Amino acid sequence: MTDRLRQLDNDHVWHPFTAMSAYRDEDAPIIGDAEGFFLIDSTGRRYLDGHSSLWCNIHGHRVPAIDTAIRAQLDRVAHTTLLGLSNQPTIELAAELVRRAPAGLNKVFYADCGAAGVEVALKMAFQYHRQKAMGPEERNLFACLGRAYHGDTVGTISLGGIDRFHSLFGSLMFPALRIPTPSENEPIDVEALERLLAEHADQLAGFVIEPLVQAAAGILVHPPGYLKIVRELTRKYGILLIADEIAVGFGRTGKLFACEHEDVCPDVLILSKGLTGGYLPLAATLVTDEIESAFLGDPWEGRTFQHGHTYTGNPLACAAALASLQLFDENRILENVQELELVLRRELGVLTDPGNTQASAIQQHIVVRQRGVMVGIELVQDRSTQTPFAASERIGHQVTLACRHRGVILRNIGDTIVLMPAPAMPAELVRQLCHVVIESLQEVLDSLGHSTGG
Ligand SMILES: Cc1ncc(COP(=O)(O)O)c(C=O)c1O
Repeated sequence: MTDRLRQLDNDHVWHPFTAMSAYRDEDAPIIGDAEGFFLIDSTGRRYLDGHSSLWCNIHGHRVPAIDTAIRAQLDRVAHTTLLGLSNQPTIELAAELVRRAPAGLNKVFYADCGAAGVEVALKMAFQYHRQKAMGPEERNLFACLGRAYHGDTVGTISLGGIDRFHSLFGSLMFPALRIPTPSENEPIDVEALERLLAEHADQLAGFVIEPLVQAAAGILVHPPGYLKIVRELTRKYGILLIADEIAVGFGRTGKLFACEHEDVCPDVLILSKGLTGGYLPLAATLVTDEIESAFLGDPWEGRTFQHGHTYTGNPLACAAALASLQLFDENRILENVQELELVLRRELGVLTDPGNTQASAIQQHIVVRQRGVMVGIELVQDRSTQTPFAASERIGHQVTLACRHRGVILRNIGDTIVLMPAPAMPAELVRQLCHVVIESLQEVLDSLGHSTGG
């Protein structure tokens, strides 16, 4: 069975973000089942899901409450369009998201993946400025951070700043104003930021930002207060603040939404990934009444938002999302994240603690960044100079393979290993995850002769 599937996989499936020539020789697990926080492959081998199935799983797999909610909805209707019609779970989810989101975000526009949710935000912001009551304007530019990642569609890569993903497509992208990524360890240069925004104020429709942590950049953590400053400046210059909480939302930073840490209400909030507990594809773009009202008018006036996707607001996905949100309360997930944040910091401390002589040889190769249950462990040739390893060593990839051999599924972004345990994962499993990662790092650095400073 496994051999047959592997052959068909190698013959026919083109995997995303995957070097296919290498993949075909790596005997990747073919997942057949799951139980709690473990994935089980077609041979029966169990793997701890250390990256929440690419940052979306929240409560584990095969969660009875979510399974039941989807089955109950399946007995009613699996899919019906939102174009001119509505349905119960989709309506109830919108109300529930509004209730839980920062105050003022009262309208929900659905899509079916994160990138599509960002595209909605971009087109809405663009059209909003042209139709707003307080003096229509033609604002055609978006600000974004250096090393940003907001998805893979042509619109979202236009905001992207990760060379490995984006540089090839430069000539396809629309221009964007790139704001230098703030560094966690340096003071925020508020004046430089204000100068940039002020200079382009009459062109800027929105500032798109991942609040607090840039996940796909390798878990880059922003300095405290940065989001609040961006909020104040965008408000001052009439630029919409568009918060992409696709990765950081749903508890990953210790609050339901990362914006809450800085008491910020964006004009637009984009959610996906953890929205359905990691069960089904769904995205939601929440906006203020002020934005939505700019689209109102007589139907023939042409103010309508002419955008939508076939599976927008799918009822099965919305039923899963409602069940997931209820579990946040019932199982006190945010409290668990606060505990897991400490567990991760403590367990991974050996990689950076100068007092730990046992790990001192590998410490010079390691930089750890963390916020909540989002962790990036970057491997570098030399930490003091931040010199990277040669790309041909694929050292990050080697570490994830070593983890896999030890029964843990993770993914690297270049030479950064990303740990993203599910917010509901028990502390004991998070400790296990950390131990496997530390052993795997040691093994790979040893095997490549890097653990003695080589
Ligand atoms: C911050 C952020 N925005 C957007 C996306 C795109 O989401 P999707 O892959 O569902 O299109 C991602 C995916 O990783 C993300 O991390």
